[in-house]
Parts: sequence; C-alpha cells; structure tokens
Amino acid sequence: MSLGGKSRAFALAMLVGASLAVPHVSFAQDSSAPATAAATAPNPNLPHVVILCTGGTIAGTGATSTTTVGYTAAKVGCDTLVDSVPELKKVANVTGEQVYQIASESITNDNWLKLSKRINELLKQDNVDGVVVTHGTDTIEETAYFLDLTVKSKKPVVIVGSMRPSTAISADGPINLYNAVIIAGSKEAVGKGVLVCLDDQINAGREVTKSNTSTTDTFRTPDLGFLGYMQDNKPHFYRTSTRLNTADTEFDVSNLTSLPQVDIVYAYGNYNSLALDAFVKAGAKGIVHAGPGDGSVGAQMVGPLQEARKAGVVVVRSARVGSGIIARNGEQPDDKYDWVASDNLNPQKARILLMLALTKTNDTKAIQDMFWKY
Ligand code: SIN
Repeated sequence: MSLGGKSRAFALAMLVGASLAVPHVSFAQDSSAPATAAATAPNPNLPHVVILCTGGTIAGTGATSTTTVGYTAAKVGCDTLVDSVPELKKVANVTGEQVYQIASESITNDNWLKLSKRINELLKQDNVDGVVVTHGTDTIEETAYFLDLTVKSKKPVVIVGSMRPSTAISADGPINLYNAVIIAGSKEAVGKGVLVCLDDQINAGREVTKSNTSTTDTFRTPDLGFLGYMQDNKPHFYRTSTRLNTADTEFDVSNLTSLPQVDIVYAYGNYNSLALDAFVKAGAKGIVHAGPGDGSVGAQMVGPLQEARKAGVVVVRSARVGSGIIARNGEQPDDKYDWVASDNLNPQKARILLMLALTKTNDTKAIQDMFWKY
C-alpha cells in the first residue's frame, strides 16, 4: 500500500480504518491480535530484521491528532505498526511479532525473561541478521540493560520507542522505527551491545536513561554522551561502551523461569526503614539503596541495612542523582559492612544487574566485581 504524501498519523489511521477526529476504538481489538507480519517476496540483497513488538507509546493512540499527552499506550498491533512504515521494506526484509502488548511502566521480570529468550532463539537462526524491539519509553533503559546482559549474540539488537503516540501530528515512531531497522541490519552495529535509538541518537543500553517526561530528545547518556547518530539512512558511531555485554557476559536466562526478588529503597529527608523492613520481610534477596549525593545513607538507615545484610540480603549502594561513580568505602565503609557499590549504574539499572548477579552467586566480592565489569 502506497502512503504517498499523507501524514503518518493519517496513514496509520487509514490502515486501521479509524478517523483522527474520534477516539480510535478499533485499535482496542487490534491490541490483542497475535500479530505475525510476514515479509512478502524477500529481497536477497537486504538483511532480515525481526521486529518484536511489546507496546508503549509507539503503539499508542490519542483521541485526536493533537493529543500528545493523556493518550493510551499499547493499542496498535505489530502488523499495523510495521505496515504503516512501508519504507522499512526498502532497507530490510522485515517480519513482525507481537511478544506482548503493555505500557512499559507495567513491565515485569517475566516479560524480560520472555523477551530475552525469544531474541536468543531468533538470533541463533542464520537467516536473522538483527532484532528490533518496539517498547514503551518509560522503562526502555531497564529492558535495554537486561538484554545487554542476557542476549547471547553479537548480532545487533536495537530497542526503539516514541514519545508521541502513533496518531499524533509529527509522530516520532515511524522515523524512529525506520532508523532502528537500518541499525539492526547494519554491519556497524555488530558487537556494540544492545542499542537504543530515538531522535536520531544511538545510545548504549547500559548507559542510556530517560531524562525528560515528554520531549522527543529525552534519551541521554549522562556525562558520557551517546554513541553516534543516525544520518542519511546510515548509523555513524563515534564511541562504544567499554563494559562487557551480550555474548561476553556470564548470564544465561535460557533455563530461568523467575528472577530473585530485588527491591529499591529510595532515600529522602526524614526517611525511615519501613519500606526496607517490608521488602526484607517479603523475601527480598537484594536491596538497592538509592541514596543522595555519592550514595550516602541516612544515619537512621545504617543499622537496618546492616541487619538486612546480616540476614543474607545483598545491599548495593547506588545514587539517586543520575550520574557519577559511587566511591566504594567513600560515604560508607562498604568493606566493613559487606556492601556493594553500584559503580555508575542508576538504581533501576543496578537492580537489573543485582537480580542477574544473584542467579549466579551470593558472594558479595564476586558481585562487586560484576558491578565493575558490566
Ligand atoms: C510506556 O512506557 O509504555 C509509555 C510511555 C512511552 O512509551 O513513552
């Protein structure tokens, strides 16, 4: 189907038989469809990229074309998303698959395990050159790091989302998806770990974080900067993450059906151990403390965190400030308390690594090494 000069929003609305002026009730039916878009007449000169759809704003719909907040995420099915960007077929043989359909703030450990296992299955196939994951932006950074640690292949994996719903004027989803497919089919992205690309900027899955509630340039790698640009239908890389990733990590989720419980305790003025105590009582195997400054811990929390450690819970000190390295034995005597420093991982990323670390060992020295390594 040729979309000619029509706007993307209008084109997408056409594809689902909806009008921009009214709520898109027909998308609701679309959301549960087990979509599998088959590439027609594969071009042997193009790479094969599988698009795994998981929901988010890129699959979201608003009541009108000017609705850019207050829309509903995760409504448009994978077939429709892929078909709404016919240019994809000029740069890759694409197939689409709906893995799940959620707003990413509701993501679970089970979702991550399912996604990682599916990507590993696909990338083992000789005829698959790369994978794109469409995803909500709220937790893209967590999924990206989880996959960066658990995908066992050097082939490109690119996670993409959008900040504007598919029905909006100047929706950013189509161009972001187009760029992601090019990167996933490129030689340049091989061996660079899991990547996140929105707004023409390519970031490392380990490093990227969402920095603004609503602007399209929300994704940042604090201090260190992004890896490269998408320009002129090509990825241009200028640096790589120095940390081990994908096939070079020790993590293997292929036989896992669950992950250890790890929770985050957030520090703020006048906080207390209520949340920590509840998490430990509920069976937490690990706690990430999101402290102010250099991962500082309030005097009233030092004792409860020591008790948690004595009870076998692994305690990781991270910081709520958004960038910088936690100095081991700096604000707290980590050696003495047998705590772990999170390096420069923010609390939500530290939680991902701690969950995976606990699938391998309870030894805090080994876990600290993982935090320096990954
Ligand atoms: C979500 O994360 O699913 C909703 C927000 C977004 O995708 O931008």
